[in-house]
Amino acid sequence: MKSKGLLAGGLSLLLAAFLVLGGVTRLAQAGQLAQDQPNIVRGAMLYDKWYAALGVNAPQGNMPIWARQTTNTRSGEDTWRCVSCHGWDYQGKDGAYRPGTGNYTGFPGLLSLSEGKSLEDLTAILKGSLDPEHDFSKYMDDAALTDLAGFLKSGLVDDSLYIDPQTLSVKEGDAAHGKTLFDAQCARCHGADGTTIKFRFEGRDATLGTLATVDPWRFLHKTRFGTPGTDMVIGYDLGWRPQDGRDVLLYAQSLPSGLESPASTPALSGREGQAGQPGGPASSLFTGILTALGAVFTGLGFAVVLGVFLIGVIFVIVWLVRGKSK
Ligand code: HEC
Ligand code: HEC
Repeated sequence: MKSKGLLAGGLSLLLAAFLVLGGVTRLAQAGQLAQDQPNIVRGAMLYDKWYAALGVNAPQGNMPIWARQTTNTRSGEDTWRCVSCHGWDYQGKDGAYRPGTGNYTGFPGLLSLSEGKSLEDLTAILKGSLDPEHDFSKYMDDAALTDLAGFLKSGLVDDSLYIDPQTLSVKEGDAAHGKTLFDAQCARCHGADGTTIKFRFEGRDATLGTLATVDPWRFLHKTRFGTPGTDMVIGYDLGWRPQDGRDVLLYAQSLPSGLESPASTPALSGREGQAGQPGGPASSLFTGILTALGAVFTGLGFAVVLGVFLIGVIFVIVWLVRGKSK
C-alpha cells in the first residue's frame, strides 16, 4: 500500500515536471521565433541610409554600380544608399525617379519583389547573387541583411494609387484624421505648423510642409519608419496602417511650405497608377504577434496532450501494480 502511494506520488511529480518543462521549452522556442523575425523598422532605416543606421562611415568613392549611369550627378556616400538607386517609392526608374528627373538612374524598382521571393532569396541578392557588384555583405552583418530583406518582403507600401501624379497631393485621404494624429504625435517636436525643425533636403533647408509638397514618398517613408539617428516617433511601431500615414501626409500638405506655389514643384507625368497593396506594415506586425502567440499556444497545447498521455500511462502502471499485489 505504502509503496503504491510512493509510486503514484513519484509518477505525479514526474508528470508535473514534464508539463512544466514542456511548457517552458515551448515558450522559450516561441520567444526565439519572435527574435529571429527580421526587424522591419531597422530594415527600413538601413534602406534609407545604412551607414548612418549602423553608425559607421560610408565606403570611400562611389558605389561601383553607380558608374553604369550618367544621368544622376550625385557622387560619394549618397551613391551607396539603397534609396538613391531604388527610390523612396521603391519604384526606381518606373516611379518618382523616372527619366527626365534629376534622380533618374535607370535602376529597377523593388515593389514586385514580395511576390515569389523568399527572405533567403532577398538576402542572397544583397550578398551579390544576381550581380557581384551588388554585394553588401562586406559592410553589413547577416542580421542587418535579414532586416533589410524583411523590409523588402513585408514593409514596402505601394502608394501610387493614392498620390495624384500631377499635383502630388493625396487622393481620398482624411485630413481631419491626419491632423488628430499629427497633433498627438508630431507637433511636440515639429511644432503645430511643422516649421520648428528644419532639415536638409536636396541641398536646402526644408520643413515638414516643404517635404510633404515636393516629395510625398520620402515624407511617407520617414513618417512610417523614422529617420536614422533621431528619436522620432515611428508610425509602424504605433501600429499605423498605410492610410494613417497618408492622412498625416495630406494634412502636412496644408502646412506652410515656404514654396511660392505648388505648381512650381516637380510633378509626375505620363505615369499610370498601379494596383495598391492592401495591408502593409501594421497588418504584418499584427500577424507577427499572432504568429508568436500561436507558437505559445501550440506549445501549451502540446504540453497538455503530453500530460494526458502520461496520466494514461500512470493509470496503466498503477493498475498493473495493483493487479500484481492482489
Ligand atoms: C548604385 C545603385 C544601387 C544601390 C546603391 C543599390 N542597388 Fe539594388 N540594384 C541595383 C541594380 C542596378 C539592380 C539590378 C540587378 C543588378 O544588376 O544588380 C539592383 C537589384 C536589386 C534587387 C533585386 C531586384 C529584382 O527585381 O530582382 C534588390 C532586392 C535590391 N537591388 C535591393 C537593394 C538594397 C536593399 C540596397 C541597399 C542595401 C540596394 N539594392 C542598393 C542598383 C543598386
Ligand atoms: C522626438 C521628436 C520628434 C517627433 C515626435 C517627430 N519627429 Fe520628425 N523629425 C525629428 C527630427 C529631429 C528630425 C530631423 C532629422 C534631420 O535633421 O535630418 C525629423 C525629421 C522628420 C522628417 C524629414 C526627414 C527627412 O530628412 O526627410 C519627416 C518627414 C518627419 N520628421 C515627420 C514626422 C512625423 C509625421 C511625425 C509624427 C508622426 C514626427 N516627425 C514626429 C524629430 C521628431
